[in-house]
Amino acid sequence: MAKAKTVFYCQNCGVSSPKWVGRCPSCNEWNTYVEELVQPKQAQSSWQGLHAAPGKNNRPRPLSEITVTEESRLAIPDKELNRVLGGGLVRGSVVLMSGEPGIGKSTLLLQLALQLGNKKVLYVSGEESEQQIKLRAERIHKNNHSCFILSETYIDALFSHLKELQPDILIVDSIQTMVSARIESSAGSVSQVRECAAELLRFAKETSTPVILVGHINKDGMIAGPKVLEHMVDTVLQFEGDLHHAYRILRPLKNRFGSTAELGIYQMHANGLKEIENPSEVLLAHRQENFSGIAIAATLEGIRPMLIETQALVSSAVYGTPQRSVTGFDLRRLNMLLAVLEKRCGFRLGSKDVFLNLAGGIRVEDPALDLAVASAILSSSEDAPIPPGFCFTAEIGLSGEIRPVARIEQRISEAARLGFERIYVSRFNKENIPKALSEGVEIMYVSKVEDVFSQLLV
Ligand code: TYD
Ligand code: MG
Repeated sequence: MAKAKTVFYCQNCGVSSPKWVGRCPSCNEWNTYVEELVQPKQAQSSWQGLHAAPGKNNRPRPLSEITVTEESRLAIPDKELNRVLGGGLVRGSVVLMSGEPGIGKSTLLLQLALQLGNKKVLYVSGEESEQQIKLRAERIHKNNHSCFILSETYIDALFSHLKELQPDILIVDSIQTMVSARIESSAGSVSQVRECAAELLRFAKETSTPVILVGHINKDGMIAGPKVLEHMVDTVLQFEGDLHHAYRILRPLKNRFGSTAELGIYQMHANGLKEIENPSEVLLAHRQENFSGIAIAATLEGIRPMLIETQALVSSAVYGTPQRSVTGFDLRRLNMLLAVLEKRCGFRLGSKDVFLNLAGGIRVEDPALDLAVASAILSSSEDAPIPPGFCFTAEIGLSGEIRPVARIEQRISEAARLGFERIYVSRFNKENIPKALSEGVEIMYVSKVEDVFSQLLV
């Protein structure tokens, strides 16, 4: 009997090799090669077998002939998800929802299935039984009579149900549990995941049904195994957050139909996930006394302004090498800011431990946080509280200059709406600020870090 052919696949990036290699030459990861069986190629995939003759309705057409109807996007009642997707679920698109175990992916998607009252939704789970899903649905307190549940892991069985049911939306929880009979390797391996995703993709495109796939993340933050999946799908959403905090953030990593700068914020309750429409109000709500080391930053994620509390603690280093620790902020950026403060403002921070935290377990990448971070560090270092009505929005350059930030008027209006008295912005932003905005909040134009601190520490 001929020996079955095997190939080694990198579980990280999906590259194959005829023999085992210690370090993947493509993605440079160590020890990621796993042996998988390869089958001779079959003539037809199951979805093609059940459906469509090749070439049906398909010919090259001039771009001007192609019409886009409003119908091509399906509005979702969940406002956060709707915005993160770029204004609804595009028909025929495939969305990958990734996240660590226990973060709330299944909850979010079941909630979505139950909210879409007028649409026929099929929720396929390879992880939970129908009873378990029912229990979860009861917890969420929502009911949708056209939401169908299927507990299935065989993709071919799923396709025969799909042909019969013809749902408007398909949710598959999770792609790693799906198996195709044509591939011999076990569920969750690169070739299985790739084959199942490819078939679901074909199904989505041919029937214009939106498909949402759940993908697990491994401990390194990679979508487990197949990085390949990210290339195949239209949209990749990452659901993240600190398991010890109730806040969950939905972040698009890739979106063919919208911006990747958007951000959705949820809070996990005993009865499901609730959307947070005004994050600033929630994030700033827990402030009672005016301590040193706290500064408020007016940041912007996507199109949404958000005021975030930055907290710093500066103390004398107990050990020889001072510690620098951050949550929600980039450590290299912190080191850079510390160097600027040392050089430009003469603060001796080289022998101090510096801890930095963004309140609420939020992670933001807006450079406009710089000025708030620097002010919080100095406030803690000098033990001088910053008045609670002050907020900051500016980037700091290497020579200590205060650089302008984008969409300044939105940040200022949000600060004014929340009752802030004074906002520090870059002098170079002055031209972009309409006169009317300066009502209600005092705008301080600054050009150097030193100026801010001499004003704050009087
Ligand atoms: P789950 O959605 O199963 O996460 P994932 O599919 O990403 O692995 O659940 C997440 C956690 O949320 C679980 O620990 C229980 C908790 N939870 C609530 O706090 N409230 C709820 O209403 C539900 C359904 C779950
Ligand atoms: Mg789950």
